[in-house]
Amino acid sequence: MKENEIKKRLGMEVIKYIKPNSIIGIGSGSTVSYFIKELVKIKHYIISTVSSSYKSSYQLNQLNIPVVDISLVENIDIYIDSADEIDNNMFMIKGGGAALTNEKIISSISRKFVCIVSNNKLVKKLGYFPVPVEIIPFSYPLIINKIKKCVGGIPILRSNVITDHNNLIVDIYELDLSNAKLIENKLNSIPGIVTVGLFTQRIADVVLVGNYDGSITRFS
Ligand code: 5RP
Repeated sequence: MKENEIKKRLGMEVIKYIKPNSIIGIGSGSTVSYFIKELVKIKHYIISTVSSSYKSSYQLNQLNIPVVDISLVENIDIYIDSADEIDNNMFMIKGGGAALTNEKIISSISRKFVCIVSNNKLVKKLGYFPVPVEIIPFSYPLIINKIKKCVGGIPILRSNVITDHNNLIVDIYELDLSNAKLIENKLNSIPGIVTVGLFTQRIADVVLVGNYDGSITRFS
């Protein structure tokens, strides 16, 4: 099965987790985009969605799927999103699409978080993919040195990217993530970093992995 077919298959599978009258958190990225295409088929029985990015909101609006502002909801029944990497502890690197801040906020108020990933996102050890951090533009380039001193790695400004919050993204390459929780906490303590793309605290409740033979493996 090709990558896009796996993503479509994941979108079809994750729909089964949505109960009638739910408020659904929507992640960002190409995998989620396939899920949104499936969501349109059941839009009549959901209450609404809360979107993590302008890009996902645009797609939802185009398909006439209701989207509400996060300030109008107290809880989200189910949050569906993908990841750039996920390990055996279900720790994730996210933010390849620069939507990490809203993704962290939405997942934090979601009763259930279902992560959908194709098999190539599963890793034994996190860190092949760089760890994105969203930073306040004022703090750049000072923050580059701070990151190097605090956690090491090679922080590089992502070119031509402004987040939905008008901030910048720095990708940290070659980070030692043998203690990913500690690194997340250390990065969180640096003034100027808004959000760290390591998800070791609010992890997914269920992970659906799409395999190349068309099967889906479920972890929880
Ligand atoms: C966006 C994300 C995405 O979930 C992650 O980048 C995976 O994207 P894709 O489904 O396109 O591989 O964290 O900020």
